[in-house]
Amino acid sequence: MKKLSERTAGFTDSVIRRMTRVSNQYGAVNLSQGFPDFDPPKEITDRLSEVAGIGPHQYALTWGAQNFREALAKKQEHFYGMKVNPDEEIVVTCGSTEAMMAAMMSVCNPGDKVVIFSPFYENYGADTILSGAEPVYVPLKPPAFDFDGDELESAIKQDGVKALILCNPSNPCGKVFTYDELKVIAELAIKYDIYVITDEVYEHIVYKPNVHTCIAALPGMRERTIICNSLSKTYSITGWRLGFVMASPEITDRVKKVHDFLTVGAAAPLMEAAVTGLQFGDSYYEELQAHYTHMNHLFTKGLENIGLSFTRPQGAYYVLVDISEFGYESDLAFCEDLARKVGVGAVPGSSFFKEPENRYIRFHFAKQDATLNEALDRLSDIRVKMKK
Ligand SMILES: Cc1ncc(COP(=O)(O)O)c(C=O)c1O
Repeated sequence: MKKLSERTAGFTDSVIRRMTRVSNQYGAVNLSQGFPDFDPPKEITDRLSEVAGIGPHQYALTWGAQNFREALAKKQEHFYGMKVNPDEEIVVTCGSTEAMMAAMMSVCNPGDKVVIFSPFYENYGADTILSGAEPVYVPLKPPAFDFDGDELESAIKQDGVKALILCNPSNPCGKVFTYDELKVIAELAIKYDIYVITDEVYEHIVYKPNVHTCIAALPGMRERTIICNSLSKTYSITGWRLGFVMASPEITDRVKKVHDFLTVGAAAPLMEAAVTGLQFGDSYYEELQAHYTHMNHLFTKGLENIGLSFTRPQGAYYVLVDISEFGYESDLAFCEDLARKVGVGAVPGSSFFKEPENRYIRFHFAKQDATLNEALDRLSDIRVKMKK
């Protein structure tokens, strides 16, 4: 048999999904892969039941149902004051995962470079490989996960840099970029004429006093920003696979074609049901924030009581716990032991860092109180069970 593709030969299993399998194997409370164990809003699921009876059940317009795009445009204007043309500036995709892939394929030629902050969401590595681009990493430095403007400039000004990926709020470090930080990024993007491809799936999961700013709303950034986002986290519907790209008509025109050939379109009945969510008023987002603030407090207070040190998230729903005290050489081995001996699933931090970083594991806390309390209970004697 001839060899399979070289381009994908270096792919490893997603470590995040692997840790879910490990958690299941040992009956661990799974705080690895980030998805909620509570229900989506009832209004959305009720509407889904209705839609099951009446449709639509056939392909929607390839770049997304009209009412869905109109609702997205309205929501974007409401939250960020951005006027978005639903016909020319939005493509509905199968999750933000496809949005990012379609954006990268639309922007990059093989050999182009893409700047990525490290730690980073693991899909970006695969996205660069699939689009033929080469990643250039810029560290976000623990514990505050700040970046150095000069280091960023040296990366951006390299020959062949076409774009920067901005995950804001960030998975895994929970950083919410401040307006001033975004201004630095924006000025460099304009100076060196590069695109900024954002991943804003946690835009509504932000802890006070932090606020999410969409970099596209900064002066001069609208035409060079490609927003990738989704409904997965905001409406607790990660399995529905509804995402979108928002960008200028010139970019969107290309993304529409890439998207059409990749997937044809997102699921028509799910778009129809999810419009209900896009039309929720402010109180929904306030309650969502209050709910996540509660889970954040419950979990981080518990970690504090156990005496573990960890990063305090400004947004998203992850904490990086420092495991250096346990003396493991491999954070992957630590996570496997943690699932087996303690009964809690986590992701090895090294899967998010370009730097040889081995001192973190990542937990997520998008879980019901009972699940989080069970995990904390199991973690309470971690020092006894994980002694080497
Ligand atoms: C930063 C980030 N981007 C994208 C995704 C995937 O989003 P979607 O479900 O919309 O594909 C995740 C999921 O955990 C994520 O953490």
